[in-house]
Amino acid sequence: MDNKNPFLEQEIDIREYFRILYERKWLIISLTIVLCTFSLIRSSMLRPVYRARAQVLIERETPRILNIEEVSPTEFKDRDYYETQYKILKSRSLAERVNKTLGGYQPWDNWGGRRKAKENEQKISDESRARALLGRVEVKPVHKTQLVEINVEDVNPKMAAKIANLWAENYISYVLDTKYEATQYASGWLQGKIKGAKANLEKSELDLQEYRKQNKIVIDSDERTSMLQQLFQKKAELEITLSENLEYYKEKHPEIIGIRSELDSVESKIEAEKEKELYTKDKEIQYQILKRDVKTNREVYEALLSRIRETEVTGGLKATNIRIIDKATVPRGPVRPNKVKDLIIAFLVGIIGGGGLAFLFNSLDQSIKTPEDIKNYIRLPALASIALPKEDDREAKPEFITSQKPYSTISEAYRSLRTSIMFTAVEHKRKTLILTSSGPQEGKTTIAINLAIVMAQAGEKTILLDCDLRQPRVEKSFDLNIGNGLTEVLAGKEEIDSVIHKTHIENLDLITCGSIPPNPSELLGSRRMDEFLQKVEERYDRIIIDSPPVLAVTDAVVLSGKVDGTIVVVKANETNRNAMLKTKEILESVQSSNLIGSILNMVETGKTGGYYYYHYYGKYGKYGQKHKKQEQTT
Ligand SMILES: Nc1ncnc2c1ncn2[C@@H]1O[C@H](COP(=O)(O)OP(=O)(O)OP(=O)(O)O)[C@@H](O)[C@H]1O
Ligand SMILES: [Mg+2]
Repeated sequence: MDNKNPFLEQEIDIREYFRILYERKWLIISLTIVLCTFSLIRSSMLRPVYRARAQVLIERETPRILNIEEVSPTEFKDRDYYETQYKILKSRSLAERVNKTLGGYQPWDNWGGRRKAKENEQKISDESRARALLGRVEVKPVHKTQLVEINVEDVNPKMAAKIANLWAENYISYVLDTKYEATQYASGWLQGKIKGAKANLEKSELDLQEYRKQNKIVIDSDERTSMLQQLFQKKAELEITLSENLEYYKEKHPEIIGIRSELDSVESKIEAEKEKELYTKDKEIQYQILKRDVKTNREVYEALLSRIRETEVTGGLKATNIRIIDKATVPRGPVRPNKVKDLIIAFLVGIIGGGGLAFLFNSLDQSIKTPEDIKNYIRLPALASIALPKEDDREAKPEFITSQKPYSTISEAYRSLRTSIMFTAVEHKRKTLILTSSGPQEGKTTIAINLAIVMAQAGEKTILLDCDLRQPRVEKSFDLNIGNGLTEVLAGKEEIDSVIHKTHIENLDLITCGSIPPNPSELLGSRRMDEFLQKVEERYDRIIIDSPPVLAVTDAVVLSGKVDGTIVVVKANETNRNAMLKTKEILESVQSSNLIGSILNMVETGKTGGYYYYHYYGKYGKYGQKHKKQEQTT
């Protein structure tokens, strides 16, 4: 049911993360301390660096005094325009200009400060000075505005401000200069055009003059028409005067004669003019063409002339769209080294990096550490966690902790193991249990003895069998010197009764290994062994068997087929996952092995931070102890 509860799983995951971090806390702490110390040393060794800031406004629109655009060769889009300006602000030529105005920039570095002027006077070229200067200038457009920040860093605060201001000023003059150059170019081009236009105009005027001379055109046809009109008018007037005078005078009257002769002369003039007009009609057309040429040429010439005047005026005006909004002031405090910020960064890097390393090492570490590891990687139930004894429990032998320190947290863990064994299979009693492990020295004997003790303490008639026929240790643990044991029974030399020994613990009997046989696996797999187990089972409620490790010899595997339950001991932080998987595979290959689960042994409670069960055992252990003391006093 637990496995299906997502919240519980999540909680276990988080606890698992904490465990990993807690386990490598010294790695994290020492990395953090080293980094922080390093950061402090670095901060104290670095030269203080100051940053000055000037702000420049670049307006997109050039103030249009006159329409100069038409002669400027390029049209920019907005973004391109600004990108270009930023590039100019970060250009080497601008740096060179500033370097020149400064009279030679002296480079510096974070550790040594400004280089001595005399030492390097000859060595450093202007180009590398400009490059060094460029490296200390940052151009930062202010978002969503037409402002640009010019940030300059220097070891001398006054110098920083000076450079920032010079940078802005030189930028403006640089832009103006390029603009002026463009104007110069434009007016040069216009000058050439004007020259041509002027020549054209002069030529067309000369042509007209020549034509006039050749064809004796003194007055042009327009004048002639008006002259004819005048003559006609005069004629009409004379005729009116004549008709009026004829009412008073006779024909021969000198007045009349005078008018008539005048009329005649006017008429003859009209005739003459008419004739002239007819004569000049052809030439007139040619004349008009020439005249129009002159007119057009004059217009072109005048237009160009006015344009060049405009261009020159604009060039001379030096109108600009760039202004300094904020001049740089001398910065009060340094921007670097920022001790607090650097320390915080070092601290965070230490914590995060240390945490990362902890997880890395954890993933590289293939040992089983927690009951969760047993569940997740081995897919076996974790029946109990047996801790390494704490200081006050150390006086007891680990094998007898349950009898010597029955109220310790460790004894509580053994009792809890007993409970889980008793109740895991209600319908099928786990009467005979074997304890094994994948490798040596993982605590099989220790746990077997303690488990037998707690079973006996629960009132069950229990017997402990030392079936580790290779390195038997039970006899020694009980400080006995018996001699005959299981080997002798299996060899038919002894009866069961003669090898059963009572122990100092009530309800607990014992059969030792006896002499070490040459063929343990065969003995343990024999029919005699089956018979022996049967007889023992008849007499006892619980049989606990100690055995050798699975991956070393096959004894435990042979035995596991003859018992009701197999328990594998895992040494915390040591038993390898793969070794454990192999052990599980081997044991499961035996049909009736009844693999119940695992016990995590020698858990370092300090290391895992007591996250697991010890926390609770501790409480109950003490509770029990109190109870006991009360009982004793009453
Ligand atoms: N929970 C424990 N607390 C303290 N010490 C322990 C614990 N479990 C085992 N030990 C110690 O570890 C050592 C090995 O234990 P033990 O002999 O029980 O392991 P084993 O698996 O039976 O070894 P072998 O493979 O040699 O039979 C012993 O010195 C024992 O005292
Ligand atoms: Mg042993």
